[in-house]
Amino acid sequence: MSYKQVIITEFGGPEVLEVVHEPILPEPQANEVRIKVQATSACFTDTMVRKGVYYDLKEKPPFPPGYDMVGVVDKIGPHVATLKVGQTVADLTVSGAYTEYICRAADSLVPVPDGLDPAEAVSLVLSYVTAYQMLHRTAKVQPGQTILIQGAGGAVGTALIELGALHELEMIGTASKSKHELVESLGCLPIDYQNEDFLDRVGQGTVDAAFDAVDMDNFKRSFKTLKKGGTFVAYGFYNNAMGKGGSVPLDYLRVKLWDVLPNGRSSTFYSIGAMRKKYPDWFREDLTALFDLLAQGKIKPAIERRMKLEEAAEAHKLVEQAAVKGRIVLLVGDQ
Ligand SMILES: NC(=O)c1ccc[n+]([C@@H]2O[C@H](COP(=O)([O-])OP(=O)(O)OC[C@H]3O[C@@H](n4cnc5c(N)ncnc54)[C@H](OP(=O)(O)O)[C@@H]3O)[C@@H](O)[C@H]2O)c1
Repeated sequence: MSYKQVIITEFGGPEVLEVVHEPILPEPQANEVRIKVQATSACFTDTMVRKGVYYDLKEKPPFPPGYDMVGVVDKIGPHVATLKVGQTVADLTVSGAYTEYICRAADSLVPVPDGLDPAEAVSLVLSYVTAYQMLHRTAKVQPGQTILIQGAGGAVGTALIELGALHELEMIGTASKSKHELVESLGCLPIDYQNEDFLDRVGQGTVDAAFDAVDMDNFKRSFKTLKKGGTFVAYGFYNNAMGKGGSVPLDYLRVKLWDVLPNGRSSTFYSIGAMRKKYPDWFREDLTALFDLLAQGKIKPAIERRMKLEEAAEAHKLVEQAAVKGRIVLLVGDQ
């Protein structure tokens, strides 16, 4: 039986994404299962993988990108006793999820409770785990505290707001004007960073934690908003990935250096991959907690568009134009 994938033919713009037909389904090896994928994402990180600028990338084209996925177990490989055919599962694949069928190690999969919408469930795997771990594992925020969210109208930004609201945080966030209605509706005070100086609006020494993935210039100014005892969490280099300069290794070291200087504040870099590697149980625990929140109706990911996997190139274009409020989910197969 043949199946469809979207592959990166060579590193480059959205046009390098191509729909291909593979002639034979992949076979699960020992300790693996095969999954019929239902949903994956078009996230900013996927565009970095496509351009070949993602730091943790081992593959060379051609290969399918796709950082996260939700799907149904379709075939069990030898020695797998923990999963059964028909069970819904999720994984942070980093690459490979732009496909109708994928084989994954059984122990990397997290069960998805019955009855969840696959598009909402997949939204939790990268963006919400990132937001959840930054809030609760890294910054360890407390109810009543104030946080600053840069890029508040994006996939991670809206996840930070939803989870921050659940934890009774006061929130202020930067976003372009078109995203203000969404940001405000989720419970965060928006700042139009393109027309106002966010540091003037927020003020120096006013927030307990700041979350920023823009660039070094932004990091410096976000850091100034922290109260004594506050925590700065950098988690990406958006402008660098968009070809707007900056040195990722140097900027990473600067963030680390601020943590040891005698300034009364802490500063760290969060990476979902590094945290999963160091604490694999946390990833499973935190994603399971998020699935529970979704099942209880306590969170509802802001999905602006649901597109077909075959429309991945168009979806990547929209993400890189920052034209997406919240996120785009790619539906796979007959979803
Ligand atoms: N470290 C990790 O483990 C991890 C995990 C997930 C994502 N990330 C990184 O986090 C970043 C965000 O990811 P995402 O999926 O949320 O991307 P996204 O959905 O594209 O959101 C990014 C948002 O930033 C806004 N933005 C752009 N320039 C800005 C600026 N100068 N100031 C404030 N906002 C600005 C954009 O919209 P407007 O300009 O229209 O407001 C956009 O809404 C990316 O760099 C990604 O690689 C890191």
